[in-house]
Amino acid sequence: MAQPTVRWAIVGTGGIALRTLGDLKLCENAEVVAICSRSSESATRFAAEHHIPRHYSDFAALCADPEVDAIYLGTPHGTHFAYASEAITAGKNVLSEKPLTMTADEARELQRLSREHGVLVMEAMWMKFSPSIRKAQELVAAGAIGTPMIVQAGLGYPVPTNGPKRFWVPELGGGALYDMGVYTIALAQLFLGIPESISCVGHTRADGVDYFEGITLTFANGAIAQLTTSITYSIPPRGYLGGTTGSIDFAEPLFSPPAFRHMAADPPRPPVIEEYTFEKEGAGYVPMFRAAGEAILAGEVEHPIHPMSATIAVLETMETVRAQLLAQRDNNLPWTGPVGPAE
Ligand SMILES: NC(=O)c1ccc[n+]([C@@H]2O[C@H](COP(=O)([O-])OP(=O)(O)OC[C@H]3O[C@@H](n4cnc5c(N)ncnc54)[C@H](OP(=O)(O)O)[C@@H]3O)[C@@H](O)[C@H]2O)c1
Repeated sequence: MAQPTVRWAIVGTGGIALRTLGDLKLCENAEVVAICSRSSESATRFAAEHHIPRHYSDFAALCADPEVDAIYLGTPHGTHFAYASEAITAGKNVLSEKPLTMTADEARELQRLSREHGVLVMEAMWMKFSPSIRKAQELVAAGAIGTPMIVQAGLGYPVPTNGPKRFWVPELGGGALYDMGVYTIALAQLFLGIPESISCVGHTRADGVDYFEGITLTFANGAIAQLTTSITYSIPPRGYLGGTTGSIDFAEPLFSPPAFRHMAADPPRPPVIEEYTFEKEGAGYVPMFRAAGEAILAGEVEHPIHPMSATIAVLETMETVRAQLLAQRDNNLPWTGPVGPAE
């Protein structure tokens, strides 16, 4: 009997669409049936180059296509809510690039709509589906590091201001926090829960685009997360999790760690160290697309590995961080990168 498949459409013909297309095609439960672009020329070209049967330059027409089951949004953050709400209302399952929306309220509205229309809504937080993070969760749940008490995570690199618009255009969600900080906060909250207090020190241009910040989250049991992110400076893309009886040190990159080192402390004996390595499927997005497909085929409206409660909780933290960043706006960037940031 043929394997049931989800018929996917991709929206956006930019960077992430190109990076994920191959992985979507590698999924045994997925079929890429349509591409949608704002320009009919791009849609036609992308469809021809990648052997995609149908192309659209009108999003409403895509949403009306009965041969499409699910829509993957590979567009800048600031556009996700409008596309996702229209698609869900039309009865399409939606997997949207991170962050799902720019506010927690928008995410709550997508959750409400998905329940009303009985379709999946999910943020493409591929990090949480990577085999290394899944294994680390399993070890932590089995007590392999005792009580998790610290997460250290960072992610940053200099992005020229003439690079992808999503980094530097305020209306599209520009800034380090929503693009990169989202991973560090998602990792911290995955292992430590909902923070009790949030404090951030950082730098933000006059137009509201944040480019460098350090975030400290504290938790009711005394746990602490120290997170740094930037779109102007290099920060190693790494995650570390320390507990009362051990630690897990993830290899780079944070969003899809290929390995980690588990240390079990048992003083006065020397610590026991074990290395774990993981096979990468495609470019690393396969486990997430496969999982989204399984949930869709099972008629789920959310995925248990990355439910909307987790997405909303991270967005709530980002909103608080964002408010603190805006209050510290300095527009005083000591830029040393290849292209000076322009307003
Ligand atoms: N998971 C990951 O590893 C990863 C990596 C990079 C980015 N991302 C996420 O993917 C999303 C897109 O990132 P990207 O680097 O692909 O961005 P991008 O290249 O700047 O934009 C992607 C595409 O979105 C379409 N688009 C639709 N509405 C748009 C608008 N109002 N303005 C500009 N473009 C619009 C454009 O395609 P058309 O011209 O065809 O309409 C554009 O090429 C972001 O949310 C980002 O956080 C995820």
